[in-house]
Amino acid sequence: HGTSRVNEQGNLEIGGCDTTQLAATYGTPLYVYDEQQIRTKCREFVKAFHNTGFSFQVAYASKAFCTMAMCKLVEEEGLSLDVVSGGELYTALQAGFPVERIHFHGNNKSRDELIMALDAKIGCFVVDNFYELHILAQLAEERNEKVAVLLRVTPGVEAHTHEYISTGQIDSKFGFDVQNGQALEAIQFSHESNHLHLLGVHSHIGSQIFETEGFLVAVKRLTELLGEAKEKLGFLPEVLNVGGGFGIRYVEGDTPQPAETYIKAITDIVRQELTALAIPLPEIWIEPGRSIVGDAGTTLYRIGSHKDIPNVRKYIAVDGGMTDNLRPALYDAEYEAAIANKMNAPATEVVSIAGKCCESGDMLIWDVKLPEAQAGDILAVPSTGAYGYSMANNYNRIARPAVVFVKDGEAEVVVRRETYAEVVGHDVLPKRAQLMR
Ligand code: LLP
Repeated sequence: HGTSRVNEQGNLEIGGCDTTQLAATYGTPLYVYDEQQIRTKCREFVKAFHNTGFSFQVAYASKAFCTMAMCKLVEEEGLSLDVVSGGELYTALQAGFPVERIHFHGNNKSRDELIMALDAKIGCFVVDNFYELHILAQLAEERNEKVAVLLRVTPGVEAHTHEYISTGQIDSKFGFDVQNGQALEAIQFSHESNHLHLLGVHSHIGSQIFETEGFLVAVKRLTELLGEAKEKLGFLPEVLNVGGGFGIRYVEGDTPQPAETYIKAITDIVRQELTALAIPLPEIWIEPGRSIVGDAGTTLYRIGSHKDIPNVRKYIAVDGGMTDNLRPALYDAEYEAAIANKMNAPATEVVSIAGKCCESGDMLIWDVKLPEAQAGDILAVPSTGAYGYSMANNYNRIARPAVVFVKDGEAEVVVRRETYAEVVGHDVLPKRAQLMR
């Protein structure tokens, strides 16, 4: 997909760059992002809204991959940006992202984070709970400002996806519940507040969703709520935010729909339901993360040791693992792989790809068919662009990999490889230990 192809040397090429050369130049593990592919995905979502008759905002959910370079690219593509922490907000501000297009999410924003965002004059707070709502209203009053908010509600929809990545079901830590009247109470409070400007409501039903049904059920719950809010409070929404969660292809059998299919289904049902309630059509906002960056990212590893257990399994170890891709260990996520320097060689053996961490669960892929691998070969794992780098960690004091963007035969480092000095950089030797010497 994207700009990937096999070149004359039989090597995997992305964005016009030979991945074996990228590995040699920048080292491994290495996150390689196909810049054109990210831009294509941004444009597909924007284009999907054309001809729907709706005003819209596409906010990239930066949690999927948040770096200054990515914020810059998102700005260039005209998208908005969803941040969920002071750190993501800081990244966006450092990249010079237009503040009015920043939306701030999170189920436990601290007072300091709220102040940081108020000082920056961001476009919208997606308020999750009464604790936050009251702090924000109080801060806005103290500052004599009127702050734009959306209310995150839990519509009680279970998306058909892995349990740990569903966030819209009833038993969820996120949002105001629709069922028990919390959501309506929050609408009333915000609508009547002199210092909050209630734009509308938000819901996010989960992640890696293939079917449109979940969105349809969620929209119905939201529009029912809006019908009640109109009737009882006279509130009319300017914005309806239906979240993100659009799936991508990781392995064969994954069946994501094109952006257009999701957006058409969503806008059709919103129009139908709100027209029936005589509510003027609001802007539709969405928050795709994975579907913007997921299949634009490929991780390159160098193959090292192997362990052959006759008649049982052959393990092949790479120089990364759960430190650069936590998803297999955390969610049993599946990936495919290829040997980047043997793209034309026949796949002859079934092997399992192990990471290098001191943990049996540090396996990247079970049972993948590959050409015969040797130490020094470059293993490419595609579709690692979302929640790979962003969930990378320093377990076993492993330094985090570099990130490069490739396009038209040129590669640019957008995140430097971490050094060991940086890994220990926050450590402080206790004074007592020095005295004991
Ligand atoms: N909006 C909200 C409010 C969210 O909670 C999320 C994701 C998104 C948008 C973006 O969802 P996406 O389009 O990327 O599916 N670490 C997990 C995914 C966690 C998603 C959490 N919320 C993974 O690696 O699969």
